[in-house]
Amino acid sequence: MQALDQIIKDRIPAHVAIIMDGNGRWAKQHGLQRMFGHKQGVKTVHEITTAAAKLGIQYLTLYAFSTENWNRPKEEVDALMALLVETIKQETPTLMNNNVRLMTIGDLSRLPEVTRQKFEQCLEQTSHNTGLNLVLALSYSSRWEITHAMQQAATDVAQGKRDAASIDEQAVSDYMTTAGMPDPDLLIRTSGEYRISNFLLWQLAYAELYFTDKLWPDFCVEDFYAAIVDYQHRERRFGKTSEQLEVES
Ligand code: FPP
Repeated sequence: MQALDQIIKDRIPAHVAIIMDGNGRWAKQHGLQRMFGHKQGVKTVHEITTAAAKLGIQYLTLYAFSTENWNRPKEEVDALMALLVETIKQETPTLMNNNVRLMTIGDLSRLPEVTRQKFEQCLEQTSHNTGLNLVLALSYSSRWEITHAMQQAATDVAQGKRDAASIDEQAVSDYMTTAGMPDPDLLIRTSGEYRISNFLLWQLAYAELYFTDKLWPDFCVEDFYAAIVDYQHRERRFGKTSEQLEVES
């Protein structure tokens, strides 16, 4: 049976997050320069986004460029920024056709002006779409986000806008760049690495983790469906016992 036929349609995860890894290794395996891996990775982004929209997933968050990625060789960073602009130009009609709303999380102030402008245009253009929310993590790291959130909370307390005692878990979530989004139900990481790499550390508290050896450019829609089927067979207890869950259901 195909993985798609095994997906339980009324148990689709609301939020899937993906650490897209292995573009460089894919290029090396094919005797190509690293940028060819990233370009091939964009094709995978297109396929997986389209599949996620069709499945009715509400949020798909992709780790596209981490804070640490600024430390890569300048030529690769420049080429990635140019690729992002090119991709947004090329993919905006597909986002519109699939009713996908683009969102971003991360420190966009560090992006080159032209890249930021292109994203802002696309964010605006897709802002009324009501299907999948495609969230690109750009110049993002969880420690940056948590530090920023703490600064904001401390400023609000200092300015008398709120009491320190009112900062509960919900308030912390609201200070994150993901405010208003459900926490990811499923995190997928490609390329056989078993790390979270400073991605959504607060939000992943109860996410199911799925690791695959496939390199991101080789990760196909069938692999995506297989990850969802795997997720649907997990028992999510959120700290409770199986017996408690049975009584509640
Ligand atoms: C990880 O592979 C990938 C990245 C750091 C960049 C991901 C970017 C894209 C897929 C292209 C743009 C994306 C969008 C959403 C438009 P790696 O370079 O770390 O691979 P390696 O670990 O094999 O070296």
